[in-house]
Amino acid sequence: MPKSFDTRPLGSALGAEIIGLDISKPLDDETIQDLYDTWRDNIVLLFNKKDMSQEEQLRFAACFGKLGERPKPKEARPEDYSKLDAAFMLVTNIRENGKPIGTLPDGEMMFHHDTIYKPRPHIGTLLYAIEVPSVGGNTKFTNLYKAYDALPEDIKNKVEGRKALHLYDYDRIAERNTVEGANDLLENCSHPVAITHPRSGRKALYVNRLMTAEIEGLDHDESEEILNLMFDIAEQPEHVYEHVWTPGDLLLWDNFCSSHARTDFSDGEVRLLRRCQVEAESAPAA
Ligand SMILES: [Fe+2]
Repeated sequence: MPKSFDTRPLGSALGAEIIGLDISKPLDDETIQDLYDTWRDNIVLLFNKKDMSQEEQLRFAACFGKLGERPKPKEARPEDYSKLDAAFMLVTNIRENGKPIGTLPDGEMMFHHDTIYKPRPHIGTLLYAIEVPSVGGNTKFTNLYKAYDALPEDIKNKVEGRKALHLYDYDRIAERNTVEGANDLLENCSHPVAITHPRSGRKALYVNRLMTAEIEGLDHDESEEILNLMFDIAEQPEHVYEHVWTPGDLLLWDNFCSSHARTDFSDGEVRLLRRCQVEAESAPAA
């Protein structure tokens, strides 16, 4: 059976644009299965639908799994979410009375996996662009299947069966979260350094420069040396796709086989995106 949509590659590293499908309407089971398979194979999917409502975004997200809960505890959120469904987070630099109305307001953000610092990280993120700056604020994605495959064999063997500790301070987005800099309020969790993707069965590197603090069981210097090598391989240009946002873009990405980063942008321009997430069927496993 032909699919009810067309695809176009986003780049050589990963990604596909979905063409000819209205994602604001309910989709039939066959189309959902085709999208699911295309997502599994391409890691990042791009859709474009202007003026998508909250309800439409949530209905579409639910095609890919159970909706995830907001990672940040309610009392730690600075924003007024009274008009927003509880499943959403606003990623924006808009301020009212000097206070950000959303999360992650300004500037560059280093490569990371959403919610890797939780015991059950969300597998899918759906980020919808409402307003974007004329320059910058791009999102870069790296293919962590390719990064794992590109690791030297001795490094693969060295980390086999080991876990890495991930930390996240919600305000620390442009410098690495380290054990030395940690405080009691930090979110933290350990997961295998490389995981087997539950849907593709392929092995993916599962560390990132922002949140991965150490490889457990190695001394500090060795852990740092291996992690820095992994970060550098993951972020090599041939493993990366950089998305320049257009209003109405919705990106769906897989946090179990990719990490992402944000490029800098001017604080003189508005950036407003709406994020929801879907749960994985299981915790990340080697
Ligand atoms: Fe993110």
